[in-house]
Amino acid sequence: TPVALLLSGRGSNATALIHACEAPDFPARICLVLSNNPQAPGLDVARKAGLPAKAIDHRPFGKDRAAHEQAIHACLEESGAQAVCLAGYMRLLTPFLTTAWAGRMLNIHPSLLPSFPGLHTHERALEAGVRIHGCTVHLVTEGMDEGPILGQAAVPVLPGDMPDDLAARVLHEEHQLYPLALRRFLDKGAPSCQAQSVLLVA
Ligand code: GRF
Repeated sequence: TPVALLLSGRGSNATALIHACEAPDFPARICLVLSNNPQAPGLDVARKAGLPAKAIDHRPFGKDRAAHEQAIHACLEESGAQAVCLAGYMRLLTPFLTTAWAGRMLNIHPSLLPSFPGLHTHERALEAGVRIHGCTVHLVTEGMDEGPILGQAAVPVLPGDMPDDLAARVLHEEHQLYPLALRRFLDKGAPSCQAQSVLLVA
């Protein structure tokens, strides 16, 4: 299945997905890596892997979110993508894009949703004193970080953890979870639980 990735920055989740897609039995192939940020390191990762990589800078569009999203959408369509994975895409989506890709757009979020939607999840988890934290792959709907959950991975919060410690522990799980959740999403026959801390919902 042709899958496009949307990212804004570092691209470590994109890297994990790109590597997963190199396995012959993986049900996705990356048809496009698209960014709103022409400087995103994730675009270089894609280019080095020989994948089509493109930026549509949001800045020239100013406040016209709709026009930027239409350009993004046109590009996704042209790539032949049948599904889209948000991988650190830092723009809020309007109903135009969420509706156009309803049921076909996945996101990874660095918390155990519905706890801590939005930004600064690791700081907020530490402030809240939770003992278990993690990440979630979910379908994208209109409400930010709100769609149906496809899978979660959990990590412990350890005494003395700083936000960066927790971020690194969660990120490691993100890189396991996202490919598993995408595989499960595309290939409903995949086993529902494949790693100790990862839980993929049916
Ligand atoms: C990840 O923590 C992801 O969960 C969040 O944004 C971050 C992106 O990191 N949505 P990367 O660009 O994939 O390294």
